[in-house]
Amino acid sequence: MTNQLSQIDQKSLEQAKEIFTNKQIDQIEVGTIRGLQQIHQYLFDGLYDFAGQIRQQNLSKGNFRFANALYLEDMLPKISQMSEATFDDIIKKYVEMNIAHPFLEGNGRSTRIWLDLILKRALGKMVDWSKIDKHLYLQAMERSPVNDLEIRTLIQDHLTTDLSQPTIFKGLENSYYYEI
Ligand SMILES: Nc1ncnc2c1ncn2[C@@H]1O[C@H](COP(=O)(O)OP(=O)(O)OP(=O)(O)O)[C@@H](O)[C@H]1O
Ligand SMILES: [Mg+2]
Repeated sequence: MTNQLSQIDQKSLEQAKEIFTNKQIDQIEVGTIRGLQQIHQYLFDGLYDFAGQIRQQNLSKGNFRFANALYLEDMLPKISQMSEATFDDIIKKYVEMNIAHPFLEGNGRSTRIWLDLILKRALGKMVDWSKIDKHLYLQAMERSPVNDLEIRTLIQDHLTTDLSQPTIFKGLENSYYYEI
């Protein structure tokens, strides 16, 4: 954590914490694209003009191309309907949502919160993001479209039943440092 967050990211982190303190988090639809859009809207409201909006341009990172923008309308409702019955199912769903990458920016941060809400409802647990190293996480996510073993193992090893605010805040802070 040697780098500094940009002003926008700092403000977005505050907005992310705010949805936990003011309990808006409990109003978010769990496990659907609509819920993910709500999270993105809260995190980036006033910061990005596309807050909560599905992208219409294509995107890639490294040498991975995320889903073609033309397919998102068809793909996102299908991902929303994917099973959350087991931990493995939830990881598969998370990996698919990452492949969809519905927003122009801020997918990682919003989708990690979306994942936490699914895990909380299904298992009474969340990910302790403060314990997950950025480089290991990114490596596992880069691998995930081909094989989800690395991300599944990494997350499995860092689930927590401690859903207290200080733990969630530490996790959010670390999640925001994945970006820089
Ligand atoms: N090469 C890749 N292949 C697949 N997924 C990737 C790759 N690189 C990064 N990712 C995923 O995309 C996320 C970054 O997407 P994006 O920049 O839209 O989100 P962010 O919230 O701005 O960034 P971050 O998640 O780094 O904080 C990463 O967190 C990771 O989950
Ligand atoms: Mg980014």
